[in-house]
Amino acid sequence: MNWYEDSIFYELYPRAFCDSDGDGRGDLLGIRQKLDYLQWLGVDVVWLLPIGDSPLRDDGYDVRSYYQLHPDFGTIESFRMLVDEVHARGMKLLIDLVVNHTSDEHAWFKEARRSKDSPYRDYYVWSDTPDKYPEVRIIFIDTETSNWTYDEGSGQYYWHRFFSSQPDLNYDNPKVQEEMFRALAYWCELGADAFRLDACPYLFERDGTNGESLPETHDFLKKMRAFLDTNYPGTVLLGEANQMPEDLLPYFSDGDEMQMSFNFIVMPQIYLSLKRQDHTPLMRVVRDTPPLPEGCQWATFLRNHDELTLEMVTPEVRQEMWEHYSPYMNQRINLGIRRRLAPLMDGDLRRVAMLYSLLLTLPGAPVLYYGDEIGMGDDVSLPDRNGVRTPMQWDDGPNAGFSTAPASKLYAPVIASADYNPAKVNVAAQMADPNSLLHTIRKMVLARKQVSGLAHGAVEWLPNAPKPVVAFTRSDGSFMLLALHNLSGDEQMVTLPPGSWRDVFDATQTAAGSFTLGAYEWRWMVAE
Ligand code: GLC
Repeated sequence: MNWYEDSIFYELYPRAFCDSDGDGRGDLLGIRQKLDYLQWLGVDVVWLLPIGDSPLRDDGYDVRSYYQLHPDFGTIESFRMLVDEVHARGMKLLIDLVVNHTSDEHAWFKEARRSKDSPYRDYYVWSDTPDKYPEVRIIFIDTETSNWTYDEGSGQYYWHRFFSSQPDLNYDNPKVQEEMFRALAYWCELGADAFRLDACPYLFERDGTNGESLPETHDFLKKMRAFLDTNYPGTVLLGEANQMPEDLLPYFSDGDEMQMSFNFIVMPQIYLSLKRQDHTPLMRVVRDTPPLPEGCQWATFLRNHDELTLEMVTPEVRQEMWEHYSPYMNQRINLGIRRRLAPLMDGDLRRVAMLYSLLLTLPGAPVLYYGDEIGMGDDVSLPDRNGVRTPMQWDDGPNAGFSTAPASKLYAPVIASADYNPAKVNVAAQMADPNSLLHTIRKMVLARKQVSGLAHGAVEWLPNAPKPVVAFTRSDGSFMLLALHNLSGDEQMVTLPPGSWRDVFDATQTAAGSFTLGAYEWRWMVAE
């Protein structure tokens, strides 16, 4: 099996993790200092959100340079030092590559908008009218009213799928395609092991289509893969394709496109099942997911740096989830919910741990979001999605141990709420407490590494499990794990399959027959 198929990924927002030089903003050398922690937690792959130069109107997803680092993060030398240390520990580094668009401050766009005759004009998508491609949806519906913005200087509209400050690149131009190969090569040479391809479904536009997952886009992604296979074999592409199942699966193609794709289909169904205390939505979606081609894998996740997206559920389900998980309007954004995992669970760490147990036992390679392993809170008073990107809470000292700068200099305030401030939630305290959420998650992560077959093994649902219980076995022929989860706050009775079952964590033996699960309890058992 390839390394990425059974790895534990950790998504980290570099500005938030650790500030090594006291300027109030996290940096690459800060991350390097914290690799001991990540290794202790059992992380195999460190995923860095964008570190390139950027005016930061979309936190680095507005690219000003594909090569220069944003000065906040350090220098290319710091990147090298980080990557070396990651590799020295047997870990891998995944970085974001924003393929769809740049910032309007990128030199290409500045040059392109200078005049219609600029050699860079064709790097972007222009039109005399804002009426082209009317079938294409607007993604950032809270901020944008059109995917076209008028450029006064040159008298045409430019195309953008996201903020108007992020013009889309024109992939019909072979030079743009070459630029991306160049960027891939640059970061591979520097040691990147994998790339998250940001917003990859939207690379091409065609009349009469919604501009998503077009054949041309797949062709280009396959070219990227072929480029890597030829020049940097083993380098992995992880796609951010927030698409319906029938459109998501083709990103794996015949195993010759992306090796990995985020599982945007399973994620919302986990929350829906929990809300309804009914395993049916989750069971259905897992059951309906076809097997992947050889060498491909899902990246599964509970939360990330964006809103909890509800784009891929029906309007009725979206409303149901919004009402339950984001009762206040300021907790919502676009078609999603801008909250972290622990607050979504009303601070109930039993539920948080139970969801982690699901994440770590369902098929796929799990991606943890920084801070969620200690149950960090969020701050909806901050704009956009910034409320889930606050400084990591290392201890209960000044600035939660994140930075030595004066608090007023921090890029964002440390969470100060009564339930989630650093005195209540921090790494040091949880490391010292064997019963903490952090230890519980670590225990699961380490146990997962001992159990074969969790990455791809078959899922069998326990027949007759009560609705509030998610109960399945995972097996790869040689091994069988039984995972039980109680989605409800009431005791539930399940019937264990024939055989003798040993608890993975406390080694207690249970025979087949009735077994009682406490409120939100989860169990991992292996067949003896
Ligand atoms: C991706 C990123 C998101 C960003 C968007 C536009 O969806 O995850 O944070 O705003 O792309 O670049």
